Amino acid sequence: MAGRNMSRRGLLAGGAAAAGGLAATGGYLTGRAASEPAEARAAEQPGTVPFHGVHQAGVATPPQTYGAFAAFDLRPGVAKESLGRLMRLLTDDARRLTEGRAGLADAQPELAGVPARLTVTFGFGPGLFTKVGLDHERPLTDLPEFKTDRLEDRWSGGDLLVQLCGEDAVTLAHALRLIVKDARDFATVRWVQRGFRRSPQAQPPGETQRNLMGQLDGTVQPADPDKAVWISGGGPAWLKGGTFMVLRRIRMDLEEWDAADEAAKEFSIGRRLADGAPLTGGRETDDPDFAAKDFAGFPVIDDNAHIRLARVDDPALRMLRRAYNYEEDVSQDGVVDSGLLFIAYQADLARQFTPVQRRLADSDLLNEWITTTGSSVFVLPPGCTPEGWIGETLLS
Ligand code: HEM
Repeated sequence: MAGRNMSRRGLLAGGAAAAGGLAATGGYLTGRAASEPAEARAAEQPGTVPFHGVHQAGVATPPQTYGAFAAFDLRPGVAKESLGRLMRLLTDDARRLTEGRAGLADAQPELAGVPARLTVTFGFGPGLFTKVGLDHERPLTDLPEFKTDRLEDRWSGGDLLVQLCGEDAVTLAHALRLIVKDARDFATVRWVQRGFRRSPQAQPPGETQRNLMGQLDGTVQPADPDKAVWISGGGPAWLKGGTFMVLRRIRMDLEEWDAADEAAKEFSIGRRLADGAPLTGGRETDDPDFAAKDFAGFPVIDDNAHIRLARVDDPALRMLRRAYNYEEDVSQDGVVDSGLLFIAYQADLARQFTPVQRRLADSDLLNEWITTTGSSVFVLPPGCTPEGWIGETLLS
């Protein structure tokens, strides 16, 4: 460990010089020399999302086109103090990269000049607290088992989460590489999951997007994140301004879904495919009428339709859903392994995510076409100031 830290310290000295050569691209458009100080160029970069604040960015931030989610397991012997060092290091990387500046140990500083709305968000899994001797501060446990779960270790669990979201895949690859390199001495990579959404060039930001089943997904969201998403007073002081994140990897059986007719597809969700409106009529954003009956006296929105079971009447208890599509492999027979990285943020797991997931696992009509193969849960500490670091409220 010492050797690597030493080499990083060496790089700290060279970092400023390296960063000076940043943002070499685009000179022909602006008429500027590539050697112009990186900071001056970065300051003018459109498309930055502020890193500092009461809350971490990347949660209430309108979802960017690409997401990469990396979970790490702490190495044996990493204790509270060394975890603190890691978080200082990673916060420094995150702060720089999101501002379009190179990381201190950045071997490709020229890639850092296009922040492309990059956000870097950190979370702590249940096991982290035990490993660093902070069990008495642990605010979460693993999720209970749900009966439809078919979980694989390679997509589940993790002590530390780094969520990277941005509008550009190259920016994301560069950021991910810097982060995993800097974390190496402290933690091993457990899994990386990548996802995508439609880009702002393809679809105006703010419009509900379609998932790979073709449905408009993300219509109903909490009205007031201060109540539903962010942890307020009442819990441990170090958590104020944080949130809980659930990441479920859900495979879609698109071959079987293709075979279903439109009526069956709409019946399973309770909404129309064409415009996302409830089956009881109106527009996408209109409230479903769960009491409505058809001519034969059956509910128009079935008792086991996804939106009926997932419904939470109290807006303060709704989770914030910020899903990404995934597509992993195409088999020789032309079957695509794809699905949804279902991601939800909420102030209270036991009152928000868990009861909904239990109802869905029990009888959601959608279960015929989906399988949950990965599951993890993290607490996201609050944001930090320009002088601070993520996790300081727990670890300093
Ligand atoms: C591949 C899996 C899933 C698909 C394809 C899917 C699809 C959808 C669709 C199309 C809607 C209606 C539009 C909207 O409000 O967004 C919806 C609503 C919703 N889903 Fe899912 N969903 C999935 C998994 C889940 C999971 C795992 C949960 C939570 C445990 C969940 C919770 C919700 C909630 C809370 C709503 C809003 C319900 C309402 O109040 O109207 N979904 N989902």
